[in-house]
Amino acid sequence: MSTEERAALSEAHIAVHWREEGYYYPPAKFIGQANAADPAIFERFSEEHFPECFKEYADLLAWDQYWHTTLDTTNAPFWKWFVGGRLNASVNCVDRHLAAGRNRAALIWVPEPEDEPMQVITYQELYRRGNEFAALLRHFGGVEVGDRVTFHLPMVPDLPVSMLACARIGAIHSEVFGGFSGAACGERIADSGSRILVTTDAYYRNGELIDHKLKADQALARARELGVEVDKVLVWRRHRGEYCSKTPMVEGRDFFVDDVLRDFRDQLVEPVSMPAEAPLFLMYTSGTTGRPKGAQHSTGGYLAYVAGTSKYYQDIHPEDTYWCAADIGWITGHSYIVYGPLALGTTSVIYEGVPTYPDAGRPWRIAERLGVNIFHTAPTTIRMLRKLGPEEPKKYDYHFKHMTTVGEPIEPDVWRWYHDVVGKGEAVVVDTWWQTENGGFLGATLPALHPMKPGSCGPGALGIYPVIYDEDGGIVEAGAGRAGNICIRNPWPGIFQTIWGQPERYVDTYYAKYCRDRSSTDWRDWPYFAGDGAVQAADGYFRILGRVDDVINVAGHRLGTKELESASLTVDEIAEAAAVPVIDELRGRAVEMYVSLKPGVRTSPEIEDKVAKVIETEIGKIARPKNVWIVPDMPKTRSGKIMRRVIAAISNFSDVGDVSTLANPEIVDDIRQQVQAAKMARGELPRSLTAEEAEEIRAFGHLE
Ligand code: PRX
Repeated sequence: MSTEERAALSEAHIAVHWREEGYYYPPAKFIGQANAADPAIFERFSEEHFPECFKEYADLLAWDQYWHTTLDTTNAPFWKWFVGGRLNASVNCVDRHLAAGRNRAALIWVPEPEDEPMQVITYQELYRRGNEFAALLRHFGGVEVGDRVTFHLPMVPDLPVSMLACARIGAIHSEVFGGFSGAACGERIADSGSRILVTTDAYYRNGELIDHKLKADQALARARELGVEVDKVLVWRRHRGEYCSKTPMVEGRDFFVDDVLRDFRDQLVEPVSMPAEAPLFLMYTSGTTGRPKGAQHSTGGYLAYVAGTSKYYQDIHPEDTYWCAADIGWITGHSYIVYGPLALGTTSVIYEGVPTYPDAGRPWRIAERLGVNIFHTAPTTIRMLRKLGPEEPKKYDYHFKHMTTVGEPIEPDVWRWYHDVVGKGEAVVVDTWWQTENGGFLGATLPALHPMKPGSCGPGALGIYPVIYDEDGGIVEAGAGRAGNICIRNPWPGIFQTIWGQPERYVDTYYAKYCRDRSSTDWRDWPYFAGDGAVQAADGYFRILGRVDDVINVAGHRLGTKELESASLTVDEIAEAAAVPVIDELRGRAVEMYVSLKPGVRTSPEIEDKVAKVIETEIGKIARPKNVWIVPDMPKTRSGKIMRRVIAAISNFSDVGDVSTLANPEIVDDIRQQVQAAKMARGELPRSLTAEEAEEIRAFGHLE
């Protein structure tokens, strides 16, 4: 794309027509009990107290050794927090709560089948299970400090147990979302160099017992192709003692955890005191090229940040019953199902299945039965629950004091249903903007101190100083009515440390764009580029518009277009592929694939199926395209780049804009007629996009 084209497309130059929404105020009852109700907190976290302000978060933890340097910037932008400090994450999440609340519930696991009893895991029990599995990993698995251990686990209590066990012995866990394919898991195993895979035989989803172990075999095969051999596969069993997978166990390689654990019954493992900067885990996320990005998170900084934000933003008290309905396979689950809530000693609910199983009343029955008072979910789930059961919440006697939303922008209309119907007008709503790379919230309202505004996440979180830059690094002022690239001017304790094995990519992707001086060790020269477009209202609240690069956010999960495209290209008949987002009522965004065929190959529905299938096996069901369009050619720039924004516009029935600079402008009309006629025939009728949606489609792929 030419410089002029890029400039013309830049979000930074486009006015945003955003209707201001009115404020909603927190109920007095909430304010009366809130962890952060004194506005003096803003002063404590003001820029003049940075970075020492974060001592307040770190002091929520138990340290074996206190740190001497709060923030070390000597190797900028590889920030080091709480240097000199030592601690153990599992001690902080479990051991230290035993004295006061040994038999308080740490986790309540809700199986998907409604007639199967819930499992209450007390802090004492979590301590025992974590120790036993830690002993198994160390003595049976041969896992040592700093080794990576990959998990491919669904929402079973074995997942947090496995995480805490790794943390106990100083191993780095790397959980791959259970819904991801075996191949995707294998790539992450290879990238991290894990020798152990922890998985399960099966789990329930939408009423079905899914065979999961078979993905382990695929994962190992893929890892082997990439040169990494896994020594042991540790298989938890969904029903202890009973194997629910069709694939055979491989002798000498695959082991049932419940069998092996017998040898470690009641064993205790001395927790390893880790340096604050030691990596705690990797969390893979999508970028714009195929190789997965393993975001490396620290022990001390990360844990301090999630504990602090859980306390002030989620208002978690030990006596609360907190339910975050995200998946632990995503960063939200790591930070706000496991580490944050457990660091604060509260009760965290884990639900195995889909929220609408067996019907849209399920979440509210769970809330009623357990007395959940803090609820955390994503806009895609809220939309789905509203569609399938708009009146359901009213039928159940639960009462939330606090609700969170995360993962993608929430439409004001959906926000209001969440607030009025799900929250019964009694709960505060906190819209939390952040990313896998960030560890914890970046933009959100402090629930007792800020009014809420539907569709806006609010100001920067405590100690976070965001700024919106235009393409040239000029500041877009609050209230200017223009969007730009949201950046964070300062480092914070939850920020990831690097991309595992790809330090240059870390600098290039997140810091190069607005870095003032590459040799500088002053944090002020290294703004963090989040890759999101945003607009800031006069009151300082940010409204996030979505990604400015080629990532498609499906139901709150980032999918790299390059990953989708390379998967499609493994189908023999395919010559070229392009992935674009289509606005989808339920999932927020869905994927559509455009493919062109190799010369001499004839179009057929089988090819469409093959593409959809390969994406499902390579990446996962969540990425399954809504449509696969076989087109005669792709619209291209003169330099041969596929103009994704043009086909994205076609998929969304929006304006394709100026195509006169393309190498093959005539193709645009052909594709439009073909695709839009087929869509109408399938009942996918055009609907008018909001100004923001139209803007998102127009800007799609503009960083090419
Ligand atoms: O575009 C933003 C969107 O999700 C992206 C981060 O995705 P991921 O790393 O998968 O993490 C999701 C959970 C933290 C962001 O770059 N996003 C996340 N939260 C919000 C959001 N967009 C608008 N409002 C939010 N609250």
